[in-house]
Amino acid sequence: MSQATASIAVAAAFLPAVPHDEFDRLRATGGVHWVDGPTLSRRGRDGDTVTTTSPGYWAVVGHAETVAASKDPGTFSSATMGAFLSDPRTPEQLARTRQLLVNMDAPEHSTTRRLVSAAFGPRAVRALRESVHTNAAEVVARVLASDGFDVVGDLAAELPLIVLADLLGIPRADRSLLLRWSNGLVGFDDPEFGGGDVRVYRDTFAEAFAYALQLAAHRRRHPTDDVVSLLVNSEVDGRRLTDEQFCQFWLLLVIAGNETTRHALSGGLLALAEHPEQRDRLVADPGLLPTATEEVLRWITPIMQFRRTATADTELGGQRIGDGDKVVLYYVAADRDPAVFADPHAFRVDRAPNQHLAFGVGPHFCLGAALARMEISTVLGLLRPHLPRLALTGPARRLESNFMNGIKSLPARFTDRPEAAD
Ligand code: HEM
Repeated sequence: MSQATASIAVAAAFLPAVPHDEFDRLRATGGVHWVDGPTLSRRGRDGDTVTTTSPGYWAVVGHAETVAASKDPGTFSSATMGAFLSDPRTPEQLARTRQLLVNMDAPEHSTTRRLVSAAFGPRAVRALRESVHTNAAEVVARVLASDGFDVVGDLAAELPLIVLADLLGIPRADRSLLLRWSNGLVGFDDPEFGGGDVRVYRDTFAEAFAYALQLAAHRRRHPTDDVVSLLVNSEVDGRRLTDEQFCQFWLLLVIAGNETTRHALSGGLLALAEHPEQRDRLVADPGLLPTATEEVLRWITPIMQFRRTATADTELGGQRIGDGDKVVLYYVAADRDPAVFADPHAFRVDRAPNQHLAFGVGPHFCLGAALARMEISTVLGLLRPHLPRLALTGPARRLESNFMNGIKSLPARFTDRPEAAD
């Protein structure tokens, strides 16, 4: 059995940068490797430190193996133990986890996905095009007029939050709540947000649920044309979302609809600044916007991994996987697999084809992919003529997370004259 160190299991390993060297080293000898379980310390409810050693898992780092496992949900289940790296602690927690779309298998998954997918189909996204453009233009105009700004806070975080607030039909002023909730849940391991404190996580959950329930009750009585009205009032096969399912889906949207797109935008702008020859190609040719958008998604792969659990003894990438084993799909590693991407560590705005797995693949393929693509290409399109003047004025501060590939801040300004390409 090939053995990997636990260096890809803990959030701190991703703090300096995604450990691509380690992923490359692993992938060189196969697409699937055993990772020993890390020992994690968290602060518990009473403030005491709780140390747990997780039993270890299979890390899938090859593209072909990630696709194969994703397309075989019967063997690689999202529901058995959920789709997140950490195991649910109790049967109650597992039952709650399974109310969330990403943590379901067929047939619940297909029925629930049909219930919510109308909100994200091509028609729904086309309807948002104009407002996304208007909002993006406002956000971009503000940073262009400023003396200095934060690429993350003032630009990359703003647009997805405004779009999400409109999509959910909540006042735009409440987008600060959306930001706080998603930081408290996704940024849980980061000392600036949750710092691994379980109490922060629980309190955030409770607050977001209370808000969602109030909103759902209101939209049941007074439906509008927003996503929440659609979610609480539509039926598939005579079924509606339960309150619990609605709240879980609400949180999924709050996180999926804002963190991911934010990290793609900020990481994409950082990549363009660090690759001036690629930036200049994009500036010279607006026809490259679609391929540049896909390359940003591949390069960053904002959600680095999701987890599955084997439902039977099986084989993947030449490894014997046991019934009940944890299997973690590292999209972030698959997206640098040289078997699929020529010169995978080169950032190329004209890369085509680009079969990246940033949105996953198979039955759980991201519902918000069209919306995210539209937001990213709209911002890149608006900024394109100004990119040569974008000067970074400080280092990027990374999020401490083994799940999201994100940065927390990146100071920048627009100079008066184009920066000389170095
Ligand atoms: C760059 C932006 C985004 C990235 C990288 C991303 C990534 C992903 C990935 C990898 C999955 C697969 C989960 C799995 O296989 O278990 C997923 C699922 C999902 N995403 Fe996204 N996402 C993005 C934006 C969005 C947006 C904007 C929304 C909605 C507003 C959204 C909503 C969802 C939902 C609802 C699912 C669950 C689908 C299912 O389980 O059937 N995502 N996303």
